[in-house]
Amino acid sequence: MSTVIINGANAKQSRVTGVEQFVGQFLKKNNVETDVITVHELPAEDLITANYASEAIKNVNRLVEKADTVIVLTPIYKAAYSGILKTYLDLLPQKALENKFIIPVAVGGSLNHLLAVNYALKPLLSELGATEIAKSVYILDKQISKHEDGSFSFEDEVEERLITELKPVLKRQTQKV
Ligand SMILES: Cc1cc2nc3c(=O)[nH]c(=O)nc-3n(C[C@H](O)[C@H](O)[C@H](O)COP(=O)(O)O)c2cc1C
Repeated sequence: MSTVIINGANAKQSRVTGVEQFVGQFLKKNNVETDVITVHELPAEDLITANYASEAIKNVNRLVEKADTVIVLTPIYKAAYSGILKTYLDLLPQKALENKFIIPVAVGGSLNHLLAVNYALKPLLSELGATEIAKSVYILDKQISKHEDGSFSFEDEVEERLITELKPVLKRQTQKV
């Protein structure tokens, strides 16, 4: 059993990558094995043409298949999740998220779209079979600082909210051992 993080940002330097790194490091420190699917690094043509036969897509879908927990990270674009996240989620098998624990995390530029995860992302996750979806974490982009060396730092309360949602992952891990 493992955890997979799906990073739905459009670029490596996105603050969403900072969230990916924070989540990955927290889980690693707590002995939870974590894989990362960076959607913008998958072959663009496979995503755009919905190429189910793509080996690259099949390989990352296997990471989702073996995972017990799936953490879905997205920037908020146009009042919803990113388009590239959708291109990848469209390529998952129909009930790919069944019996998995899902944690959605969004980074938005304003609080206007605080509910976007609830009205846009959660129905999509449910369509993929998810029934156990954690309370989402919505982070304002200004709460994440980008540094010259490429690292990121977070306001304390953001770290606290992320850790609160990640704690059940640690509990599930110990229950499985
Ligand atoms: C094309 C585009 C559309 C966006 N639409 C929204 C939006 O509708 N609501 C919102 O709160 N933020 C919106 N944003 C802001 C992004 O969510 C925010 O800047 C991003 O998550 C911060 O990450 P970054 O480091 O990748 O820029 C938008 C940004 C872009 C580039």
